[in-house]
Formats: sequence, C-alpha cells, structure tokens
Amino acid sequence: MKAESLRIDGDRLVARLAELAAIGATDEGGCCRLALTDEDRAGRDLVCRWMRELGLEVRVDPIGNLFGCRAGTEDTAPVMTGSHIDTVRTGGRYDGCLGVLAGIEVVRTLDAAGLRTRRPLVVGVFTNEEGARFAPDMLGSLVYVGGLPLEEAYARTGIDGKRLGDELLRIGYRGDAPMPLYRPHAHVELHIEQGPVLDAEGITIGAVENLQGISWQEVSIAGESNHAGTTPMRLRHDAGYCAAAIGAFLRSLARELGGSQVCTMGAMTLHPNLINVIASRANVTVDLRNTDEAALQEAERRLAAFLCSLARDEGVTIETRRLARFEPVSFDAGVAALITRVAARLGHTCRPMTSGAGHDAQMLARLCPTAMVFVPSVKGISHNPAEHTAPEHLAAGADVLLHTLVELAA
Ligand code: GLV
Ligand code: MN
Ligand code: MN
Repeated sequence: MKAESLRIDGDRLVARLAELAAIGATDEGGCCRLALTDEDRAGRDLVCRWMRELGLEVRVDPIGNLFGCRAGTEDTAPVMTGSHIDTVRTGGRYDGCLGVLAGIEVVRTLDAAGLRTRRPLVVGVFTNEEGARFAPDMLGSLVYVGGLPLEEAYARTGIDGKRLGDELLRIGYRGDAPMPLYRPHAHVELHIEQGPVLDAEGITIGAVENLQGISWQEVSIAGESNHAGTTPMRLRHDAGYCAAAIGAFLRSLARELGGSQVCTMGAMTLHPNLINVIASRANVTVDLRNTDEAALQEAERRLAAFLCSLARDEGVTIETRRLARFEPVSFDAGVAALITRVAARLGHTCRPMTSGAGHDAQMLARLCPTAMVFVPSVKGISHNPAEHTAPEHLAAGADVLLHTLVELAA
C-alpha cells in the first residue's frame, strides 16, 4: 500500500477513547484520573497492554514516564509523539488521551500496511501533565528534559498531602529506564485545542507555533479569627476578605494589561470556614499566563505590589509560594510548516495557532525540534466533563499526526 493513502481507523480511536474514559468516569460524564492515583494506574495498565499488543517495547523511567517504541529500519534517533493520560478532577475524555491513543493508532495503521519507517517511532505517556494533584504541571516531561531534579520531583506533595515519589512507587510505575531514555530527532504532540478558535472559525487543524508562559503561585493569608457580629469593620484582619480581593484584583489586572494576559484564581480555602467567624487563614492559587514574557513579568510585579498593599491595609500577613514558572515557548518553525503542508495535502483546513494551555511538547522542545497539532474543541470547552471533539476531527488530527510522523521518520 502507498503510504500517501494511509488513514487511521477513526471508529477505533473513538472506541478506545471511550474505553480509557471509563476508568475514573464521573457521574457528570467526565473523567477523574488524577496523577498517580489508582485510576491513573489502571489507565496506564490499559495503555501498556495496548502498546504490548502491537509489539512495542514498553519501558518506564524513574519519574513514571512510559514509552512504547516501534523499531525503525535503522537504529537511530527516534521520532516521538505522545501526551498524557492524567486528568484534572473534572476532566473530559480527550485532553491528553487523544495524543496518546492517536500515537498508538499510528503504529497500528503502519503495522497493518506493512510499512516500516527508517527511524524508530516512540509513543510517550508523560507523568502528571495536569499539575492538578502535584505542582508543577508538565512535571514528568520537565524532569525528562532535565528541568527539575528527580529527587525534587519525588519530594513534591500533592493536594492530599501525599509525596509524589511514594505515590509513584505505590502504583508500580517508578521505573528504571535511563533518563532521558530517547533524544528524539523530532517530537509532535496531537491535542485538542481546549480553546474556541478552531471551532468558531470552522477550521479542522491548528499548526501550533508557540505557547504561553505560565506562572503559578499559592498565596497564603494569615489574619485573625473573631466574631462576625461584634467585631467592627475597622478592627478586622480578615483573610477571607483578602482572598476575595485578590480574585477581584486578578480580573482587573487582566483587563488592564490586555493582550493575551489571562489571570485565574482557581482554588480557595478558608479557615475555619464558618458563617459567623471571620476567617483567620486563607489559601488561594493564582494562574497567570501570557505569550509575552515581559508582560507576564509585569503581571507578576503588579500582583506582588497589590499583595503588599493589601497586607498593610488589612493588617494581615501574606506569603507566596512558587508552584510553577515556565517562559513562553516558540516551537520549531520547520515542524509547524510540515504540519501545515500535511494538513493541506490531506484536504484539511489549517491555521497557525498559539497554545493557551501548557503541554508536554513545550518541555520536549528543549530537547529536539517540536511542534503540535490541534483539533477543535466544541465551544472551546475543556477541563470540564462536557469537553467534546467531533469524531471526524479526532480522525483528521490523527491522520495529520500519522503523515507528519512518517515524513519525519523517513
Ligand atoms: C494544563 O492543562 C494547563 O495548561 O494547566
Ligand atoms: Mn493536556
Ligand atoms: Mn489539561
């Protein structure tokens, strides 16, 4: 069969996405497979089984990244693809999983056609991409490229107080492969857009050229508990008020800075969290993103200044803890151009894109020429059980991935 006419089996891809989504399925129709939980282990077991059924050599590294390798005709630097299968607590079935399962379908399609590439093909599944349980996000790929020492990663504690290293051991995915196991010739990750652009414009494929910088902090506020009825407003040291003020400030900060700046306070806890008690403590998280590093630093500076004045005015103590900080990333122009050419050849509409979300590919970009393929997310909804991508778009993305990998591996 001629390579040019190859297409992946879209029905099979959809069926496998559903099978994986059944692990950690939630009542809302979504998926909860937080990193290194029993559900993550079960998902990994299933993916490993699918890889082994295709005869891939499966190996796990010390941070739990797992790789399935299909040999090439030459033993040389492989072409890599892949993504993650951990989810946020309120995730859907496509974020990350599409990139992994499409990679496996690429292998199956090549096997069925009896086609062997010159370079090996590797499908990677990276640990804790979401960062929803352990900070930072993209932790497995970050460690893989040498951006975070292994022991530091092991020592990270999750939102449930568990140590990452212990949880990795507990689920049986603390492997012993050398790190980095592969230094790829190139890396391409397929992912749902998770934003509204492709869906709104009716375009099937995004060739991702760059990705926003990400700044995560935890802000801890220490005030004083007191009676909600008897304490005059001017005498309060109210951590709950400060938490709310930070949330409101973030919205105005994004509005003032404009451009691509986005600001989110996604988590907040109050203590003692009672109706008639002024909160003595509050913890909030801050997620700032911008495609421009200087603008992102300006957002961080303005937030720091606001926290200073808030602490002074309310008579509370405010401390910040850095959870993640990644500069904006430019992907490889050659790989992005190849994706664009492949999409056109396959008859799909395509446009250049910026990624608003973080992805493992941004870490692999430190190691080798890298870019990403996006497919539309209906109404741009993601990190939500309602996350959806049309089956024909899943298949189109997987086809573009297939032919991009084949060219890179030729
Ligand atoms: C990962 O999904 C992120 O962008 O936060
Ligand atoms: Mn993802
Ligand atoms: Mn995600």
